Amino acid sequence: MPTVVTISGSPSVRSRSDGLLRRAVHLLESFGVTIKAFSLADFPAESLLYAHFDHPSIVRLQQAVAEADGLIVSTPVYKSAYSGALKVILDLLPERSLAQHAVLPLATGGSPAHMLAVDYALQPVLTALKARHILGGIYATDKELVWGDNGELVVADDIAARLNTAVARFIAHLPNPGVVQLDPHALNAQIRIGGISV
Ligand SMILES: Cc1cc2nc3c(=O)[nH]c(=O)nc-3n(C[C@H](O)[C@H](O)[C@H](O)COP(=O)(O)O)c2cc1C
Repeated sequence: MPTVVTISGSPSVRSRSDGLLRRAVHLLESFGVTIKAFSLADFPAESLLYAHFDHPSIVRLQQAVAEADGLIVSTPVYKSAYSGALKVILDLLPERSLAQHAVLPLATGGSPAHMLAVDYALQPVLTALKARHILGGIYATDKELVWGDNGELVVADDIAARLNTAVARFIAHLPNPGVVQLDPHALNAQIRIGGISV
């Protein structure tokens, strides 16, 4: 079975980008993909800021990435780019860390004007890590991701549909997709027909 590492790059406790990531995770898990999830809370701030490559928490991340088939990163747009928090985490990955990986970026922002932030800012970093395959990411604005009364993130239908397709494509591009390997369109149809709620 494939394994996917996720890195949630928002410093916010209640985070839209993390909510989008959790939706993707739910979907992946429903197809039998094993998830190893990381967020800022997993690392001491000093280890990130002073690049303690050998801190146990950093080594855990490096090992998890080395053993994984894919990576999903989520980030808020900060100042027209991805978050600094995500950068300090990615900086601690060794060169060529993503050479065997499919990568799916997810980003949220206040303005639709910054939907290209993933392409012009985050993608070069993933390329520097030699990502084998960078899937077209999902960008959602705050208006499309609204907090419901019960504290759940309500995702606009259009974004939910695009996320389904993106996850299906991501699974199809995993180097070790195992039994979940399916044509992306077939997988997306299966998601819809199955009425999988994520
Ligand atoms: C410090 C800061 C900078 C931001 N800069 C931008 C920006 O340049 N462009 C944009 O569209 N949204 C910007 N935003 C809005 C966030 O990207 C947006 O609210 C996002 O959904 C937050 O994600 P999160 O809840 O996962 O942290 C900024 C927010 C903060 C706190």
